[in-house]
Amino acid sequence: MNWFAFICEYDILIVVIINKKKNMNNKKEETKNKEENIDEKENRIPVIGEKAPSFEAKTTQGKISFPDDFEGNWVILFSHPADFTPVCSSEFMTFASMEKKFEDLNAKLVGLSVDGIHSHIAWLRTIKEKLVHNGIEGADVKFPLIEDISMDVAKKYGMIQPEESKTEAVRAVFFIDPDGIIRTLLYYPLSLGRSFDELYRILIGLQTADEFGVATPADWQPGDDVIVPPAGTSEEAEERMNDDSITCDDWFFCKKNISKKEIEKKIKN
Ligand code: BEZ
Repeated sequence: MNWFAFICEYDILIVVIINKKKNMNNKKEETKNKEENIDEKENRIPVIGEKAPSFEAKTTQGKISFPDDFEGNWVILFSHPADFTPVCSSEFMTFASMEKKFEDLNAKLVGLSVDGIHSHIAWLRTIKEKLVHNGIEGADVKFPLIEDISMDVAKKYGMIQPEESKTEAVRAVFFIDPDGIIRTLLYYPLSLGRSFDELYRILIGLQTADEFGVATPADWQPGDDVIVPPAGTSEEAEERMNDDSITCDDWFFCKKNISKKEIEKKIKN
């Protein structure tokens, strides 16, 4: 073989190798994209206003079919990272101590972690027998705690957030109304215990808005003034400004008072 023929053949070989490598990289990229797409599909954060994703699950209170078994009730579905961890334990004690308050608002609590049922049972027994938090002791968790070893349920609710943890659920909270519609969702990182007073305030706020056709301003607490929906026409805006039962700083910023008693009468069991 002369030099010219040798160089030509060598060049062709290099081009073939480079193309092969390019093809392999493209294939790898395609597979990665596919995996990411599947993940995105499976691990999706639901949105406000959509029907709560349905599932069947084993819980510490027996099998449940969600959300059908809870039709007619509000549900607070929440996840925690793991059993036998301190922040989660303090949260469960607090939720257990407030269960009656939520029940009075026609709301059921449902917990979830990616642990198994036996771990759940053992942990809840330990909480009741040994732990004390903020003066709460002997906390008896009677609401169902879902076993989700497969992470199937957690993924349907976007509870697995890989940048925070690939193996544990973040602290998610979903408020689901009696028609099974998601009305509020919250996500907290692993290190931050939730404010249960805020969860209670959210539930009352949602129910007050529904029952009275109003909105609730910043930092609203039951008994504070509520926001009257903005006028839809100029005529309505004029009427608003002359209505003695409401106070308007301007036509779009009108408030009225609904007492705590009135709210309780309407929404409490
Ligand atoms: C906890 O509940 O204490 C906890 C769980 C996971 C990570 C960090 C803290």
